[in-house]
Amino acid sequence: MLSSLVCLLATGGAGQGIWPVRAKQELVISDSAIASRVGAEILRQGGNAVDAAVATGFALAVTHPAAGNIGGGGFMLVRMADGKAVALDFRETAPKAASRDMYLDGAGKVVPSSSLIGYKASGVPGTVAGLFEAHRRFGKLSWKALVEPAQQLAAKGFEVSFGLAGELQSASPLLSLFPESKRVFRGDGRGLEWGDRLIQTDLAGTLARIRDRGPDGFYKGETADLIAKDMAAHGGLITKEDLAAYKVVVREPLAGSYRGYELLTMPPPSSGGVAILEMLNVLEGYDFAALPFGSSARNHLLVETMKRAFADRAEYMGDPDFVKVPVAALIDQWYAKSLRASIRLDRATPASEIKPGLAQAPDGNHTTHYTVVDKDGNAVATTYTLNTGFGCGEAVEGAGFLMNNEMDDFASKVGVPNGFGLIQGEANTIAPGKRPLSSMVPTIVLKDGKLFMALGSPGGPTIINTVLQTLLNVIDDRMNVQEAVSAPRIHHQWLPDQIAWEPRGVAPDALAAMEAMGHHFARRPGRMGSCHAIMVDPKTGFRFGGVDPRSEDAGAAGR
Ligand code: DON
Repeated sequence: MLSSLVCLLATGGAGQGIWPVRAKQELVISDSAIASRVGAEILRQGGNAVDAAVATGFALAVTHPAAGNIGGGGFMLVRMADGKAVALDFRETAPKAASRDMYLDGAGKVVPSSSLIGYKASGVPGTVAGLFEAHRRFGKLSWKALVEPAQQLAAKGFEVSFGLAGELQSASPLLSLFPESKRVFRGDGRGLEWGDRLIQTDLAGTLARIRDRGPDGFYKGETADLIAKDMAAHGGLITKEDLAAYKVVVREPLAGSYRGYELLTMPPPSSGGVAILEMLNVLEGYDFAALPFGSSARNHLLVETMKRAFADRAEYMGDPDFVKVPVAALIDQWYAKSLRASIRLDRATPASEIKPGLAQAPDGNHTTHYTVVDKDGNAVATTYTLNTGFGCGEAVEGAGFLMNNEMDDFASKVGVPNGFGLIQGEANTIAPGKRPLSSMVPTIVLKDGKLFMALGSPGGPTIINTVLQTLLNVIDDRMNVQEAVSAPRIHHQWLPDQIAWEPRGVAPDALAAMEAMGHHFARRPGRMGSCHAIMVDPKTGFRFGGVDPRSEDAGAAGR
């Protein structure tokens, strides 16, 4: 099947130059060039952007096992050309047997790694149900046609890239803890090398059940039995009842605007949409474009804005079906005005002085984002994840896929940092059936009511600031979409009180100037995010793609 892929355009992501990938009609960009080609082929067969997104999602579960998944969850933002837009929330849920203090020891201390590694770290997966719901609402081609390419890739195998070989190698200590993961990904001994063929027979079996029976092929029957059995045998909490009860929530996208552009973005349980709109409201009050990119004055404003939004994230945000999130107040213009009033232009406000207002751990691209725009102008932005790379490390015995460790996105204990160093509050404590707060934020931008851009990124909390800066790069700096995703980023998440920055992203004199204002920088720079964005040229209607060069295997495909 793959050999018959017709794509006039297919690139690897690494080393994208300064020019965007261009397509006249339709474009798919993901962290795996193979998966992008699967999506492009679906478009060529007459499928729409949602069909392509479903097929790409399943293909990523095969070719990008660090983050592509059926054992995790995520968000998909769809905007059809007729203006209909939905935010599909297929975030994992805490199992029924989960409890607020499940990761604490007898002394009330968080047991290290307990919410990150192994069976007990997993929430009930949502991906299969989410992709199915997207297809049920908007799809044109048959469900079978969309799952089939991934099933074939798993059964027949594909060539391990240099990047995947490296990822598997670094994950080998984690994967080796679980015999099944070791077997599937050969995290033992020699391991998989660049150029080897990775065949995933058990995953092919699972995908065949999903292809033939839809969500019942995952949430019921043999796959559900395998998950529940593995969980029961190893102290995990997920039962067949949990799986059968999983529900996608269809939400209304959160809407806002910035300098004449309309934004549609992800509402809670994503914290990203609220935080981005809150930050854009603050920044709109400054002549941001007049401050040179990378200057200490601009970075200062960015960092001060980020700190305040992340303090609010920690205090107010959680699953809206369990706690009341004051969304309207946080994205209100008056609130932005009060935040601006608290920002001094000459010195940093210490994080300890920033209190939630109404009243470092970035690393690893272990979530994945992909973007599709079809010839009719339908757009899909999807971010889905196992949480950290290769999730909890456990491949379900006999089913061939990895389970997530999304439970770590909850506050295991209020005030104690999670795996991303995020301090989180009462609103995000664990309860059965609750969804952990997320930073994933697929986003769509409109100009004059028409599709202008679709984007998103992995990167834990850095996702929010990655999407923010990519938007600013395009809207304020008029960068082309490739430059906008390639440009270096900075990140502050309130606590720790420290700026994460990318190599060569902050010039030594700007860094020194900011330190003199009271900012603290991480000792070493690191990379953040992998933002794949598609922009529609308002004049010609051509699709311009920005493929994030931070992602080794990424690629665009389309025509
Ligand atoms: O939902 C979230 O915010 C996290 N589970 C995302 C994790 C992630 O992006 C990991 N990649 N670095």
